Amino acid sequence: MPNAPVLTVTLDGPAGVGKSSVASRLAGELGIAFLDTGAMFRAAAYTLGEGAWDWTQGILQQKLGDFDFTLRGSGADTELLLNGQPLPEEIRSERTGLWASQLAVVPSVRAYMKMAQIFLGQTTSLVAEGRDMGTVVFPGAQFKFFLDADPAERARRRCRQLESQGKPADYEAVLAAIILRDDQDRNRSIAPMKPAPGAVVVDTTLSTEDEVLAQVLRVVRGQA
Ligand code: DC
Repeated sequence: MPNAPVLTVTLDGPAGVGKSSVASRLAGELGIAFLDTGAMFRAAAYTLGEGAWDWTQGILQQKLGDFDFTLRGSGADTELLLNGQPLPEEIRSERTGLWASQLAVVPSVRAYMKMAQIFLGQTTSLVAEGRDMGTVVFPGAQFKFFLDADPAERARRRCRQLESQGKPADYEAVLAAIILRDDQDRNRSIAPMKPAPGAVVVDTTLSTEDEVLAQVLRVVRGQA
């Protein structure tokens, strides 16, 4: 019997816009896996360490050859594993986010990530979130979205999230990191962050997460 076709939904957008929360809940509603591609870049940045973006393409290729990402489960319970292990909590720090953004401009890193993401999406139905899911990695996805929000609102959301985790939140520092990352992610030459052709662009500045999820679900379920 032929395999059932995979469903691919892409959700791109800038740092702090709430992509991961919406993507994991959407994947739960659809009963499919959630692929956090930012976590893949963060895991690589954390594992390789500061300055890896200055290594030669050959050394980076060799190091990335030892990386094997796999997915287990679905919805909010999807687990992304690196060489069979869960990703460490430290990948979520602002510092690792900035390193990931710097590493993400390097051609051999982008080529490796694209290949690994396409491989995961070949056999698994996914809600894939990141910066270039709809433009570069899954241009043939059945549904594409680009979430955006004002940087000040994204910084406020990030501070609220940090506070809810009992971590210190310096609004000005968080805003500066968001602006720096936007600049790096939008202006790089390979796979810059931008809405894919045909993507539904959702400005979430004034919307709650529930409202954004409902809007996206209406499109996927053909009710929009
Ligand atoms: O979504 P995030 O903040 O966890 O992503 C961390 C960095 O990884 C982001 O600033 C840029 C890079 N990234 C990318 O270049 N392409 C992706 N598809 C996902 C993330």
